[in-house]
Amino acid sequence: MPKEYAIAVIPGDGIGPEVVREGLRVLERVASIEGFRARTTMYPFGADHYLKTQEILPDRAFSEIGEQDAILLGAIGDPRIEVGLLEFGIIAKLRFDLDLYVNLRPVKLYAEHLCPLKDKKPADVDFVVVRENTEDAYAGMRGFFKKGTPDEVATQEIIFTRKGVERVIRYAFELARRRGGRKKLTLVDKANAVRAMDLWTRVFAEVGREYPDVSRDHAYIDAATMWCVKNPEWFDTVVTSNMFGDILTDLAAMIQGGLGIAASGNIHPGRVSLFEPIHGSAPKYAGKDVANPLAAIMAVSMMLDYLGQSRAAARIEESVAELLRSKQIPSLGSDSGLSTSRIGQLVLESVEQPRVPA
Ligand code: IPM
Ligand code: MN
Repeated sequence: MPKEYAIAVIPGDGIGPEVVREGLRVLERVASIEGFRARTTMYPFGADHYLKTQEILPDRAFSEIGEQDAILLGAIGDPRIEVGLLEFGIIAKLRFDLDLYVNLRPVKLYAEHLCPLKDKKPADVDFVVVRENTEDAYAGMRGFFKKGTPDEVATQEIIFTRKGVERVIRYAFELARRRGGRKKLTLVDKANAVRAMDLWTRVFAEVGREYPDVSRDHAYIDAATMWCVKNPEWFDTVVTSNMFGDILTDLAAMIQGGLGIAASGNIHPGRVSLFEPIHGSAPKYAGKDVANPLAAIMAVSMMLDYLGQSRAAARIEESVAELLRSKQIPSLGSDSGLSTSRIGQLVLESVEQPRVPA
């Protein structure tokens, strides 16, 4: 019997359904090539479903989703709906309530011409950001006092727990070790101004002693954004808090060619985990067949790697890399001249080619 994986699919809003459709075509094709099966269950959650039913992510569906092997998500967000309602009701709920404490965001330049930085080559842009995914200002401990008056006070607490900081730092050390290469882990924080981040400083040093083979580096978030543009080759593995990771990885996505390629995994090792493009729902491109599906396709690759199908994952990654290097897919924006389905088709044809795994 071939191995079978249960995948919950939430295409979501805007361009989500279009790019996920291409991701699923690629998933099915590599599954048949590599000899495993993906049993997908589609979930309708997102703006249209909310407007029709007032449902965001009902408990029953949540627990059903939580019992599968992995989740593939397109994008959530719609201008017709109150800011943050669906983002928090769907994405953040899944991250928090499934305790997906690692947000893994690889930053890899596949072809020199895609990089907006002068003289940077694929070897210079190849790092991974480990973003804490369950704490910080995202925890939602907020309030308004005297709302709407001239005396209004608005607060939102930044929270870090010892347990939360330690587990994500440990994951990052393990990853730096596993990546081989330079075996270097950079802690990115703002401990000079946000003194609560002293917790990160101490835990980083403590856990680091268990990984003598991994060299430790540090940068404040403001400097890290500068290095990201000036000397991205200095980074190998980066660990940071939730909000800094959010910001840093949009910048990092640009140096790997843009949001058209950047994918991420929301992971709790050993448990159901969620994979998604970093880009949003881009409502203005929705339904036009112009959105680039490569980020969703790369999310499928990350998901397969997580599920233990590393050959299938590498097959997708190598195919995408080759299509970019050869300029069969000339650029990563909506202006590539290729439709969403055409790009999907090119990847489908490319994964058929026999290749040495990356
Ligand atoms: C991301 C997104 C989300 C975040 C939003 C949609 C809440 O920007 O996945 O990076 O801030 O985490
Ligand atoms: Mn973001």
